Amino acid sequence: MDAIDGNSAKSATLTIGNESWELPILNGTVGPDVIDIGKLYAQTGKFTYDPGFTSTASCESQITYIDGDEGILLYRGYPIEQLAESGDFLETCYLLLYGELPTAAQKADFDYRVTRHTMVHEQMSRFFHGFRRDAHPMSVMVASVGALSAFYHDSTDISDPQQRMIASIRMIAKMPTLAAMAYKYSIGQPFVYPKNDLDYASNFLRMCFSVPCEEYKANPILSRAIDRIFILHADHEQNASTSTVRLAGSSGANPFACIAAGIACLWGPAHGGANEAALKMLGEIGSVERIPEYIKRAKDKNDPFRLMGFGHRVYKNYDPRAKIMQKTCHEVLGELGIKDDPLLDIAVELERIALQDEYFVERKLYPNIDFYSGITLRALGFPTSMFTVLFALARTVGWIGQWKEMIEDPGQRIGRPRQLYTGATHRDYVPIARRK
Ligand code: CMC
Repeated sequence: MDAIDGNSAKSATLTIGNESWELPILNGTVGPDVIDIGKLYAQTGKFTYDPGFTSTASCESQITYIDGDEGILLYRGYPIEQLAESGDFLETCYLLLYGELPTAAQKADFDYRVTRHTMVHEQMSRFFHGFRRDAHPMSVMVASVGALSAFYHDSTDISDPQQRMIASIRMIAKMPTLAAMAYKYSIGQPFVYPKNDLDYASNFLRMCFSVPCEEYKANPILSRAIDRIFILHADHEQNASTSTVRLAGSSGANPFACIAAGIACLWGPAHGGANEAALKMLGEIGSVERIPEYIKRAKDKNDPFRLMGFGHRVYKNYDPRAKIMQKTCHEVLGELGIKDDPLLDIAVELERIALQDEYFVERKLYPNIDFYSGITLRALGFPTSMFTVLFALARTVGWIGQWKEMIEDPGQRIGRPRQLYTGATHRDYVPIARRK
């Protein structure tokens, strides 16, 4: 392959040896143009090679936009800062699903529909009892969300728009209930049923932290903080778990199974598991004096250690969600009267040192959303094993919105990447007695 030259706004010329092809260039409303290589193999007999999809747009989408260089995140065009400051999570869900902010009547109707779907089939609670008490709650979430497809047969026909919408509402509504059940089960306390007169965040906190023998009153400041954390995590365009949901859904799998696949992908420490890993790392560092030692380790190519909560595939600037998360963290600690949190001191100092260090500056490694979320969630009373569960709860609306967008795209086809094969070529079978 000799060259790919963008020679106009409309097409690029690909030259291989003596032959050239014109490849269309597609323009989005904002962000980089894309070279359409859909016919490349048919025309040239060649594939493109892009492990990790660093230069590949896998789909067309109208939901979320990220400008990683400028540190901008927009949901349906609205800046994350404005939504987190002035909106609430269910309003954000409506926006992500339907494309517009709801009117007051639409919001009331949507809140009503979500609230009325928060209970899970009673049989589900028995399903939970099959797990070990010490199971990681993410393993319980992967299984129980997948199992929803065994309980809600009337919303698994993906060709029916009405069923797609009911499945979406069910998933947004039931995730807090399932997440709280996973938590309650792990600590041996009874499940707490949802309560319809509470808002989404307060209901979730109550299902996690109330016990039948005491009245529970949600603290509005803490409810607001958790609601904001949900808004920050609601969607993030074509990240690993969202792409997993899209790929699973492209085969026609039902939405509950697709979201379970997304949860499995989110669990990894390079993705949603980083909030848990970041807090563990801060604990391991233990004191401000030991930070230089860990910075040195993070820079050492022979050491697998990385600063968790630092760096991002797309953001080469401060993650805008991290800024809001940092503010929320201070608000929560202030409300709870936590004056000195040694982990917060370590985090602030670590951030300060890393942001001045040539290694991190050169590679544009900034704190991401997971850097401060662990400290905040811990202060709210969640154990580290629940952090990624909260991420999954909030990201469910993004996954389902992206899944719906894909299913409703008339050009949708099964996702089927190809490969650069470097294995053995044809060889004949050798009977076992003759093998050396
Ligand atoms: N600590 C030390 N070095 C790092 C880090 C880090 N956290 N992140 C990236 N680097 C280095 C990396 O070694 C590489 O160096 P070099 O160019 O010398 O080989 C360079 O920076 C580029 O890194 P990369 O691994 O090629 O970048 P990527 O886009 O493949 O990975 C990432 C992105 C988020 C997986 C990675 O930055 C990372 O592992 N961070 C820690 C885990 C984390 O915080 N994940 C949460 C991401 S935000 C929430 C979410 O989306 O789930």
